[in-house]
Amino acid sequence: MKRLSIIVFFAALSLSALTFSEGHKTMVTENPLKVEMVLLNEAFKNLIESIVRNNLHGIEEAFHDVHMARNKTEEAIERGEITLPKNNDKIKEFIEIDEKFHTNLEGLIKASKKEDMKKIQQITSRLLDLCIQCHVKFRD
Ligand code: HEC
Repeated sequence: MKRLSIIVFFAALSLSALTFSEGHKTMVTENPLKVEMVLLNEAFKNLIESIVRNNLHGIEEAFHDVHMARNKTEEAIERGEITLPKNNDKIKEFIEIDEKFHTNLEGLIKASKKEDMKKIQQITSRLLDLCIQCHVKFRD
């Protein structure tokens, strides 16, 4: 009886290890645009919170991961591996909005280094407009 429960325990353990490694694999092979968006979402929430708390030097760091993820998305687009949920034939327009978005992001990082609250607020509202503009056109 005791031996059986030990066997059951180890079976359960190896099963959970298997699930974990499969879960990890899904993360690695996931759509790079979605990965970028999840990171961007976090960085943007952090941005709002940093503004509200007047903690402007806390803005930049979360955008580093977004930047790396964006490079991967760009490469995937070049290889034709990204399919947009809507208006996939208008990928040029998608790239235009994306470039505008990231130019504004660079401005945001500069302004956050200078702790320029007014500029940060202006750019944040422009960024939000671009999230919405792009989602309306390309997201389900
Ligand atoms: C250049 C276009 C573009 C911009 C700008 C953009 N998004 Fe997205 N976003 C998309 C597309 C397209 C999808 C859908 C991806 C899919 O489902 O394949 C998406 C999906 C998402 C998702 C869902 C991810 C998931 O797991 O399904 C979140 C969250 C998100 N965006 C947040 C944001 C936020 C926050 C901003 C602005 C700070 C933003 N996005 C700006 C194009 C954009």
